[in-house]
Amino acid sequence: MWGGRFGLGPDAVLEAINASIDYDKRLATQDIEASRAHAAMLAATGIISHSDAEAIREGLLTVLSEIESGSFRFQKALEDIHMNVESRLRELIGEPAGRLHTARSRNDQVATDFRLWVRERCDAAVAGLEALMRALVAQAEQGADLVMPGFTHLQTAQPVTWGHHMLAYAEMFARDRGRFLDARARMNESPLGAAALAGTSFPIDREMTAKALGFDRPMANSIDAVSARDFALEFLSASAICATHLSRLAEEIVIWCSAEFGFVKLSDAFTTGSSIMPQKRNPDAAELVRAKTGRILGAFVGLGIVLKGLPLAYSKDMQEDKEQVFDAADSLLLAIAAAEGMIRDMQPVPQRLREAAGRGFSTATDLADWLVRRLGMPFRDAHHVTGTLVKEAEARGCDLAGLPLEAMQQVHGGITAEVYEVLGVDNSVASRRSHGGTAPDQVRTQVARWKEILG
Ligand code: ARG
Repeated sequence: MWGGRFGLGPDAVLEAINASIDYDKRLATQDIEASRAHAAMLAATGIISHSDAEAIREGLLTVLSEIESGSFRFQKALEDIHMNVESRLRELIGEPAGRLHTARSRNDQVATDFRLWVRERCDAAVAGLEALMRALVAQAEQGADLVMPGFTHLQTAQPVTWGHHMLAYAEMFARDRGRFLDARARMNESPLGAAALAGTSFPIDREMTAKALGFDRPMANSIDAVSARDFALEFLSASAICATHLSRLAEEIVIWCSAEFGFVKLSDAFTTGSSIMPQKRNPDAAELVRAKTGRILGAFVGLGIVLKGLPLAYSKDMQEDKEQVFDAADSLLLAIAAAEGMIRDMQPVPQRLREAAGRGFSTATDLADWLVRRLGMPFRDAHHVTGTLVKEAEARGCDLAGLPLEAMQQVHGGITAEVYEVLGVDNSVASRRSHGGTAPDQVRTQVARWKEILG
């Protein structure tokens, strides 16, 4: 492979550690696309003849169809996808194949292929997140005024609406989407033409190849072009944050599906049974979405460690960038799709949600707010009075609405029967009309905004 310099072949162990074809074959489409752009540019600038460029173009299309049909024979001895494609091209078209690598190195080649691949995955993540957000918005619309308990510390805090809870996730995934779009915009520069690291003496046209490959411009520094992998790291960091959000959602689904909560039902399509316990219905998809976060975050850490001590420019260490990114991208896209599927499938159970919403003295804050509003008490004093009322209710084994008026008046003489109005969960949520609050009206406004955004 290395021409004149090498007499003997590599040791088997070298071949085993060095060859990347088993996984970088996933870059085949991008490799061929970039080679076609490069060959066309070499002809346009007069570096190779038009007839050679045409032979290369045709040959590359044949290679691509062989790969797509599965008839292509990938060879470990040829190390990686770049050498495999070029070698087959030579078999197919002979001498012109040898001109394709003019003014190019595998260093700018792999950097280009990989950027194209990651860029595509950014687009796929954006599309997947939009579908997931649509599913959340549909849930929010249907359950805009469905009351449920809102938690802090996983202790009942205040009643909220189902729609509001769903839209909290839409907000998170919208920021994730933004991170993928930002990463995409930053990575969309072409390394092609940087050659090994220093550029080339041939009169190449980097604008032309950049444009052909959909990049905004060529990268400005050839050393940076072949050694930069922050685009992959940035994709992984956006993926890791997104996976963290998916995991939180998945965790809630797991909890909500439990018999103890019973807040939602997943259908047969998104649950599995047990081989021993006939009654079981397990939320496996949610658990796996939650678990995928481990490998995705692991990939971010892994690639960071590969890159952290590397001197400029290219080192073979960088070959270790791919598997982690491939695996993380596969896992993320699958997790997004599974989350979307579950959100579409999931049925909230209104009665369970409502019962739980009223438990745990969830309207205590409403009572304290009422004391402030109607009796002009400072909030801190109202908090204290309410705390005493909660204690009283607890002692009597009832909720706040179950306390007789006289019992309340014993704690504070100013309390009137009007107070009962704020102790119901529906009134509680309806009253939280502040910007971003949980009131059904607010939720409906937000649903309308999301529908506008998502089209
Ligand atoms: N398979 C290599 C990689 O993924 C391609 C670049 C090889 N470059 C080199 N100088 N050996 O990084």
